[in-house]
Amino acid sequence: MARLAANGSADDAAHFRSVFGHVPTAVTVVSGLDESGAPVGLTIGSFASVSLAPPLAGFFVGAASSSWSRMSRRGSFCASVLTAQQDELCWRFARDPAPGSDSRFDGVAWSESPAGLPIIDGACAWVECRLESETAAGDHLFVLGRVTALESMAHATGAMVFYRGRTGGASFAG
Ligand SMILES: Cc1cc2nc3c(=O)[nH]c(=O)nc-3n(C[C@H](O)[C@H](O)[C@H](O)COP(=O)(O)O)c2cc1C
Repeated sequence: MARLAANGSADDAAHFRSVFGHVPTAVTVVSGLDESGAPVGLTIGSFASVSLAPPLAGFFVGAASSSWSRMSRRGSFCASVLTAQQDELCWRFARDPAPGSDSRFDGVAWSESPAGLPIIDGACAWVECRLESETAAGDHLFVLGRVTALESMAHATGAMVFYRGRTGGASFAG
């Protein structure tokens, strides 16, 4: 099946997911602080650079995302790019907190970006942004940020790649 019905269907949704599962993505944890100053975050595969001048980056987030609604009130976020060794973090930040915990950050080591946002320890790069705009995009929001600081780690192992529902690594010789 290639064409989608005008009004969509369960089969179309499954087909859509399956085909887009063949588009490899990087895996980031987009994090920030809630109104009480506690760290919040979620796994995001759609993070990308948008513009160099001015420096802009963005991602697509489900319109009902509770983590995004909590951190967006502060008007900033930081994307930590995971390495292939950080599989546990990929799934942790995509699920509810572990039983008995109220935060995905419980037991996760992190440091502060220049604006005080969480950078996940061991990430191979991070990008800190000030929220520029949120645009409705179907059942998602396109979140655009003005990049305020960013760094990549010289010691980094290969970045994580998500492909057909599984994590792997992007390591190239040379
Ligand atoms: C590899 C991977 C990539 C993901 N990418 C996105 C994404 O780009 N946008 C999104 O809204 N959710 C994405 N998710 C799903 C969210 O991480 C998941 O729905 C999470 O529970 C949302 O957190 P929240 O409900 O606390 O906001 C991704 C999940 C995984 C495992």
